[in-house]
Amino acid sequence: MSDTVVGANPDSHASGDDPNRRDFIHIAAGAAAVGAVGALAWPLIDQMNPAGDTLALASIEFDLGKVVEGQQVVVKWRGKPLFVRHRTAKEIAEAIQGDHADLRDPQTDEARHKPGKAEWLILVGTCTHLGCVPTFGGGEYGGWFCPCHGSVYDTSGRIRKGPAPKNLLVPDYSFLSDTKVKVG
Ligand code: FES
Repeated sequence: MSDTVVGANPDSHASGDDPNRRDFIHIAAGAAAVGAVGALAWPLIDQMNPAGDTLALASIEFDLGKVVEGQQVVVKWRGKPLFVRHRTAKEIAEAIQGDHADLRDPQTDEARHKPGKAEWLILVGTCTHLGCVPTFGGGEYGGWFCPCHGSVYDTSGRIRKGPAPKNLLVPDYSFLSDTKVKVG
């Protein structure tokens, strides 16, 4: 199933004519923010434009129940895109295989998801090179590709090729229930 994205990152270095944006499908992600930000997905949060210090403190909660296997949604968190990916068995298997590769930023796949929740990968969606927003499904490792300078991330969000120095960041988050997640 294709990558599904809520909104696009206006702060990205990716320009508006980035061909990867052709695939963006705007859906409501069911994102609910805690505190002053409000229960809104990215495009609406963007319009509200709360103060930077408010954003810095904000936590968000969202329900994973509507994110089907093979799908990714993107919500805005602290001014950045957050990738919420429901991984397929194939993606998980490839990520585990990658544990044995010569990794630039060594980390096991297990360390990048919650125990028993390998299907859920939650990542800050900004390239660790210069901050562009990578797109899912590009690059030879089955994960994310950054169109700005060609960094390639695997299905665990680990950097495998290109100039980015680090893996895509895993934010602090917790499961409040089987499907409800709080980030921040
Ligand atoms: Fe992603 Fe440069 S910003 S490769």
